[in-house]
Amino acid sequence: MEIQLYNNFHLDKLCDLITQLKPHGHLDWPTDKTVTKNILSNFTSNPSISIRVLVNSNEISGYYLLEEEKNISRIVVCIGSTNKNDHNILLSHVLDNYKSNDNSGNIKIQFPTLKSQKTVNDYFRRSGLSKVRTYLKMDLDISHQMNFPKHETLTARKLKSTTEYKILADIQNEIFLSHWGYSPNTQKDITDMLQSFGNDPNLITIIANDQNDIVGYCWPTVYQEQETLTGKISMMGIKEEFRGNGYGKFAVETGLFILKSMGAQRVRLDVDSLNAKAVFLYKTIGFVTINELYWWEVRCPSQR
Ligand SMILES: CC(C)(COP(=O)(O)OP(=O)(O)OC[C@H]1O[C@@H](n2cnc3c(N)ncnc32)[C@H](O)[C@@H]1OP(=O)(O)O)[C@@H](O)C(=O)NCCC(=O)NCCS
Repeated sequence: MEIQLYNNFHLDKLCDLITQLKPHGHLDWPTDKTVTKNILSNFTSNPSISIRVLVNSNEISGYYLLEEEKNISRIVVCIGSTNKNDHNILLSHVLDNYKSNDNSGNIKIQFPTLKSQKTVNDYFRRSGLSKVRTYLKMDLDISHQMNFPKHETLTARKLKSTTEYKILADIQNEIFLSHWGYSPNTQKDITDMLQSFGNDPNLITIIANDQNDIVGYCWPTVYQEQETLTGKISMMGIKEEFRGNGYGKFAVETGLFILKSMGAQRVRLDVDSLNAKAVFLYKTIGFVTINELYWWEVRCPSQR
């Protein structure tokens, strides 16, 4: 049994494994292998992401995908494996190999797991990891007839051109900067994200008021889930000074309408359970919680 750095030679076997495993971690892996391959290729071209695979007699029985978010001092690791033993081998490998050269103890490693991953959650709890956050995974059926939402003072528009990626980065950073786990985006990050799987710049909606001020935005994405096209509200928000006027509801409803016009039947989203305003807003619109995502944390061991 050996842990190897992922390379293209592993692609087919890793896709087979990922599509066989039950849902795990924070990544919402698709059930379709071609799509999984695309996503893996995107990940491997991202220098902050590294993937390792557990190889056993030429077969892959587990993997971990690790993303370093240096500007918020954290490493996020998604582990997937066929059994408990392999999971623990991969976990030990992360803890043994990611030592921080910063002895302040500020760097943290986080392992997101789904509520349904009972054995792993019990193990993390018994091993003394802290559960620092719970995200709700919410779902809404949009198979019914929908009209474009109307508002007296707000308008919704698409991004005018790639020159507005900078505006999108600025709005997103302004709205989410104080949010737990948010790593600020550069214009290049935004460009890369918009080229990645499920994204389409035409889906992004900028919300403006009658003074032509940009008040917020909605960033929907789509992905195929077996026979169903599923939408996701990946990000959305209203600038602080414009909150509390019903604009958030308009932004989400605009996103839902766009997803519906793409042919989506369902819409998913992840929201921090402590984000009371957003949870309330989504529930008002009809979203229901279908799963929970736990964020387990451990301080990154120092090199000494
Ligand atoms: C969540 C957010 C979009 C809401 O925007 P908003 O324009 O203030 O939302 P709305 O005015 O449409 O209000 C939504 C509902 O929340 C309610 N609400 C307001 N403050 C609340 C609070 N502290 N707790 C619970 N509900 C609250 C409002 O009363 C309103 O309900 P109503 O329509 O029945 O009156 C906004 O706070 C935001 O951008 N937050 C930062 C980004 C974010 O969290 N995005 C979502 C997660 S991806």
